Amino acid sequence: MGNLVADLRAIAGPAHVLADPDVVAGYATDWTRRYTGSASCVVSPGTTAQIAEAIQACAGYGARVIPQGGNTGLVGGSIPPAQSDGADCVILSTKRLTALCPVDPRSRQVTAGAGVTIARLADHAAAAGLRYGVDLASRDSATVGGTIATNAGGIHTIRYGPTRSQVAGLIAVLADGSVVGSLSGLTAGSTGFDLAQLLVGSEGTLAVITEARLALRPPEPAAAVLIAGTTGIAAATELLAHIREVIPDLLAAEYIDAAGLALVRDVAGLAPPTADPHEGYLLVEIAATAGVPDPDAYLQRLDTVGLPADTVVALDANAMAALWSYRERITEAIATIGMPHKIDVAVPIPALGAFCADLEGVVRDAVHGHGNSEPRLIVFGHLGVGNLHVNVLGPDPADTGVDEAVARLAASHGGSVAAEHGIGRAKTGWLAFSSLAADVDAMRSIKTALDPAGLLNPGVLFPPEIQQQRATTRTV
Ligand code: FAD
Ligand code: MLT
Ligand code: ZN
Repeated sequence: MGNLVADLRAIAGPAHVLADPDVVAGYATDWTRRYTGSASCVVSPGTTAQIAEAIQACAGYGARVIPQGGNTGLVGGSIPPAQSDGADCVILSTKRLTALCPVDPRSRQVTAGAGVTIARLADHAAAAGLRYGVDLASRDSATVGGTIATNAGGIHTIRYGPTRSQVAGLIAVLADGSVVGSLSGLTAGSTGFDLAQLLVGSEGTLAVITEARLALRPPEPAAAVLIAGTTGIAAATELLAHIREVIPDLLAAEYIDAAGLALVRDVAGLAPPTADPHEGYLLVEIAATAGVPDPDAYLQRLDTVGLPADTVVALDANAMAALWSYRERITEAIATIGMPHKIDVAVPIPALGAFCADLEGVVRDAVHGHGNSEPRLIVFGHLGVGNLHVNVLGPDPADTGVDEAVARLAASHGGSVAAEHGIGRAKTGWLAFSSLAADVDAMRSIKTALDPAGLLNPGVLFPPEIQQQRATTRTV
């Protein structure tokens, strides 16, 4: 490995290859601290050309490459495997790819380096009178490259779609060091397969994304935020449908269950949002649009919906931010009480009520079945797109029984075992619960074609069979 470190230092510069085991260990543990692996070093190239050279150098030594952005991913995709197959792992950090070009107001697009954070991108767009469509609580660390690689969603997906909908082009380095893609931003061009869109959601298994051309939106300030107390997720879903009938331009529609609200209040020292406690809370952010002249007009429309009596509506920025804090601070609040099993699933909106009705029993059975004590269940998420975050505290972090049970439950309700966080290392074994075997086989074929040696992010996204297949091929 000594030679690879030396070679990488020659490529990226001596200061940009970290090999001190204590320092490397910090990069090899994920945000949740549930997933950890080991790597020989961390390289932070400064250009696309350096990344291509670094990948080729790693390939020459048979070392695996683990692309890493802000390391805020929640499914263990940004860190090396815990068990090595004998090969060294190198973490390839994009933290030096921070170039941000001027916004082009005519195309409403901007080119950003993969290491630019979402918060910086949002500020940059705002300074040009525009808005970036993806926003998430990890905005200060999550990067352009990481959000593309995971197809991140976030709080405005209901309005602008996930990251996929913002990508107008990108540049990426494949496993053989070749550089692909375009930053022309030509959304009207059709010249065969769309490689940029293929790489969205590929979780670092097909290429290292180095730059992206991103669509921006006209600014849409929030006119109002409301929190309504409901009897649970089914009622919240019904209420949301009624609100959308009279106000189609929602910026966000989020759900928080009673346990999540109680915890965030406790940890963050927040007063109750509503007069009485409820089983579930619907938070809605309404955009100020040209069609509706002032906040009173929204209130009049909302009057026709039949909002629950215990609804709080905020119309000024401070009051709106105060309501958002119940939702925005949940993840950090959960992290203060333990290492949760975070199970991010998507369920068709009409099936959310039935899914949640089954959830408590499924979680309890899975946890008791594995000899654990009473679990603590917290459910919240992006209701408007059927994306729920099921958090279970209690079971040992290494015990995946409850994670698997919840993933199976989501699939049995017509949902997906993974939503905005992706598959990572956490969910590879469950991909088949909600994806056709033929779909997984087609993805494997693409992986094998672009990365035949399995250099990029081994153990992420694909079920273990791919490793076995490769081993078989080699033996033969
Ligand atoms: P990393 O965590 O570094 O990497 C994630 C994956 O992308 C890994 O597989 C990695 O190998 C790959 N990758 C990273 N950079 C590149 C690159 N340049 N080229 C190729 N592959 C790459 N997610 C949501 O979708 N919505 C939310 O609302 C949301 N809220 C969050 C709130 C908190 C408090 C936290 C901690 C996380 C949240 N997340 C959310 C999860 C996380 O922020 C996202 O998954 C984000 O997209 C990860 O970006 P990152 O730069 O940190 O990527
Ligand atoms: C969120 O929506 O807050 C995030 O996806 C983080 C989480 O799931 O905890
Ligand atoms: Zn989320």
